[in-house]
Amino acid sequence: MSSTLDKNDIANKIDKASSLDKLEELRIYYLGKKGLLTTEMKSLSLLSVEKKREKGQKLNILKNFFENELLKKKNIIENIAIDEKIKSEKIDVTLPPRNFCTGKIHPISQSIYKIIDIFASMGFSVESGPDIETDFNNFTALNIPSHHPAREMQDTFYIGGESNEEDRVLRTHTSPVQVRSMLDSKPPIRIIVPGRTYRSDSDATHTPMFHQIEGLLIDETSTMAHLKGCLIDFLKEFFEIDDLQYRFRPSYFPFTEPSAEMDIAFTKKNNVINIGEGNEWLEILGCGMVNPRVLENCNIDSNKYQGFAFGMGIERLSMLKYGITDMRGFFDCDFRWINHYGFSPLDFSSSSGI
Ligand code: PHE
Repeated sequence: MSSTLDKNDIANKIDKASSLDKLEELRIYYLGKKGLLTTEMKSLSLLSVEKKREKGQKLNILKNFFENELLKKKNIIENIAIDEKIKSEKIDVTLPPRNFCTGKIHPISQSIYKIIDIFASMGFSVESGPDIETDFNNFTALNIPSHHPAREMQDTFYIGGESNEEDRVLRTHTSPVQVRSMLDSKPPIRIIVPGRTYRSDSDATHTPMFHQIEGLLIDETSTMAHLKGCLIDFLKEFFEIDDLQYRFRPSYFPFTEPSAEMDIAFTKKNNVINIGEGNEWLEILGCGMVNPRVLENCNIDSNKYQGFAFGMGIERLSMLKYGITDMRGFFDCDFRWINHYGFSPLDFSSSSGI
């Protein structure tokens, strides 16, 4: 047997190998296709049975020895590498911890969850519609035909030029979802619609994008008395004030007849608004009995069906409930603002967690 196929020599070579690459070179040197041990083993077939057995045994022992040593050395090299890695990645437990942020629920979302909770308990379900609406759904079907002065009440963002019924607008209120629901389903209808709305307006109390929640109830018997009861209960529950002072003022909306606005009483001391009582009034929402013309525009028989609708601004409600003074902060994306006014996502006591 050649001197290179000797246990000591193999052990020596493996011992000297200092990396996994070097070990691989040795493996190929001995056990590769043309390796020393491989060649020797191939040549066994030329020997007599006796010699074959004798040499075969020796070669097998050598092969096992080589493979074992190789594995042992591989483990040693790998362990050294791990030790070195651990040493270089030492954790400094004296360092201050990294800041971690938990997300907060935006007050608008918090209000929407709360409003949904309250109306859901009265049997309303939640509907939605697109932000980009047809002129027909946003205005015409709601009894605001082209050139009607009521269009001026809402500074509209038109998409694509002159106003006509084919045109698209950024919906100026959530009321077009009333139209969609009446066209899509048969009474009784009892829905609320939270969503984004848009008007070309911007100051401390107006942002071009804001949120409304719409309510619509259509059946054969509901009256203005039901509308009032429903809204009074809602506001008491929302503001958590049992003896909330409120008033209904006659108003005008083309899509409701009669129409009203609802105010709640408040006092202002040291720049802090206290809602519920006092002799100043804050407008909270618009409402009324659905105009029979709107029912007819939506293929509902106005001799058989009637109902009420209401709409309110969620920013206004949130500002009052959570003591937020400037509306622009809602959409500035300032972390300090959301950390101050936001709600913990892990507090399920005051939201439906939707
Ligand atoms: N859509 C009206 C607005 O945006 C609010 C409203 C809704 C009034 C439903 C009456 C009935 O001002």
